[in-house]
Amino acid sequence: MGERLRDKVAIVTGGGRGIGRGLALLLAGEGARVVVNDVGAAVDGSGVSATPADEVVQEIVALGGAAVANHNSVTTTRGAESIIATALNSFGRLDIVMTPAGILRDRMIFNMTEEEWDAVIAVHLRGTFNMVSQASRVFKGQGSGCFVTFTSTTGLVGNSGQANYGAAKAGIVGLTRTMALELGPLGIRSNCVCPSAGTRMTQSVPNKAVQIREQQGIKGAMDASDYVNASPDDIAPFAVWLATDAAKNVSGQVFYVRGGLVSLMNPEDTAKVLHKEGRWEVDEIATAFPHTIGLELFNPAPARE
Ligand SMILES: NC(=O)c1ccc[n+]([C@@H]2O[C@H](COP(=O)([O-])OP(=O)(O)OC[C@H]3O[C@@H](n4cnc5c(N)ncnc54)[C@H](O)[C@@H]3O)[C@@H](O)[C@H]2O)c1
Repeated sequence: MGERLRDKVAIVTGGGRGIGRGLALLLAGEGARVVVNDVGAAVDGSGVSATPADEVVQEIVALGGAAVANHNSVTTTRGAESIIATALNSFGRLDIVMTPAGILRDRMIFNMTEEEWDAVIAVHLRGTFNMVSQASRVFKGQGSGCFVTFTSTTGLVGNSGQANYGAAKAGIVGLTRTMALELGPLGIRSNCVCPSAGTRMTQSVPNKAVQIREQQGIKGAMDASDYVNASPDDIAPFAVWLATDAAKNVSGQVFYVRGGLVSLMNPEDTAKVLHKEGRWEVDEIATAFPHTIGLELFNPAPARE
């Protein structure tokens, strides 16, 4: 057991399975007292079970750590309030909030229902907002705190069949960068991790979907072989390090983590520019574009012949 987070109290949403489980165990391994939040839902968000969160708490306690379970959903303000109250009532303070709770409802956008859209936005984007807005009040009062949010390559570069998820995950990046600006002056740090690992979530994307994408020449966010063999527990060391005092100057960043790889993902940089004094004519753009910013422009999914 390490000591880097001794005296700290952490919350991990979705801490009962996959990447969240690894985060909860390592946070406790570094001395933090941990609230393991998880509704115990299926990958599509249906159903509830206390077992995943309870089992992780038992694991932490068996290893000599301190943890309590919370089974509420992050999708509502009341749920988020109860998760934070569990930390304050059980351990008397709150220092770290990590928000990997998540679900998938994949569907091509022309078939996606409003309900499928809302369900994914509710867990990922609104769930992250609910946790951050409530916890930031506690952090503001004490002048310290650390958030680690979770995005996806789907949110950074897109992935066919995941319009709801991609929108939510891109939203989390914008939210986190904005949190860093608003909360940084108050002593509160915010960073976003873009993980890749073999979990039930990644295994739930059917081979058929991957094959159809390949047949259609649609480039996925990444090749499944890149991540299915990576362990979800590989994400925890970097995410937990972000919560330590050693990372006190790290905020407003997005990091991609898979296996032993950690990459700093830059915000959208300007790659090329087209500029004139005053307003363009459409004709002028039609002439200038192909030879300037249109040169060698990559189309991830060209129209079929
Ligand atoms: N596994 C990957 O390769 C990968 C890639 C990119 C992003 N991510 C992101 O990492 C995070 C963790 O993913 P994972 O692969 O460990 O998934 P997982 O399905 O193994 O774990 C997600 C957990 O979140 C819980 N959860 C779902 N809805 C909830 C709610 N409303 N409130 C509280 N808990 C809820 C589930 O019960 C589950 O235990 C997610 O945000 C996911 O989008 C994962």
